[in-house]
Amino acid sequence: MVANIIDGKKISAEIKQSIAKKIEQRIKKGLKRPGLAVVLVGEDPASQIYVKNKRKGCEQTNIYSMAIDLPKDTTQEELLKTIEELNQNDDVHGILVQFPPPPHIDRQAVIEAISPLKDVDGFHPYNLGHLAQKVPLLRPCTPYGVMKMLKTTGVDLAGKDVTIVGASTVVGLPMALEMLLEHCTPTICHHSTKDLPAKVRQADIVVAAAGKPELVKGEWIKEGAIVIDVGINRLPDGKLVGDVAFEEAKKRASWITPVPGGVGPMTIAILLSNTLEAAELAD
Ligand code: GUN
Repeated sequence: MVANIIDGKKISAEIKQSIAKKIEQRIKKGLKRPGLAVVLVGEDPASQIYVKNKRKGCEQTNIYSMAIDLPKDTTQEELLKTIEELNQNDDVHGILVQFPPPPHIDRQAVIEAISPLKDVDGFHPYNLGHLAQKVPLLRPCTPYGVMKMLKTTGVDLAGKDVTIVGASTVVGLPMALEMLLEHCTPTICHHSTKDLPAKVRQADIVVAAAGKPELVKGEWIKEGAIVIDVGINRLPDGKLVGDVAFEEAKKRASWITPVPGGVGPMTIAILLSNTLEAAELAD
């Protein structure tokens, strides 16, 4: 078997087109143009690239982009004050603080300072709680993007065994909640998981989100499984690879996402879609 590719670039371009159309209609009706504030603290090179892509996504969809770049020695108090000002700003419907912040910043305080109605990352306990209660509002971008990709395969998701590799609150945990909404049976694996290969081998769907280059080996993939690779790792030679050994996994999977051009562009498309949704919540 050679897997079909789930083309995140193509799917995300379609989503962005649909967002741009809806925004055009909003503006014709005299409604506000959605606005997204992307806050970057410090100069982490990977974060700078992610933030640049998010701001570019705003341009492509006619979302008003407010760029706030703060120095790496910004205090916790200064950052929370900036967030509070954005909470009060009617031109800003979505607020995103790029993670990871510098180590002196309390990440949880940042998450909880953002108004839940502007929390386009879906990280606030209010939004994560709504997802856990199966009445989602603003949903974490990457897991929701993964669900959109899975839907394009046409495969019936109900009853599928899903192994999620990585238990982060940004991807692994909300991913399991999204899978439950589709009546899948998720297993979340982490550092202390016994026998990771066995957990992957029994999966109909594998979602790799551990941030470790090619951690998931091709031979672990069940014949015909769907493989979603959330990882983006840069090797010392500059090459970008995912958390899955792509070339080997491709020979066993029915569907697989590439890196780059897979989940990455979907995360941004959902961020923009969440910004539009937040603007609609504010109407
Ligand atoms: N850093 C890596 N992924 C994300 C994300 O989805 N949102 C934010 N705010 N920071 C990130």
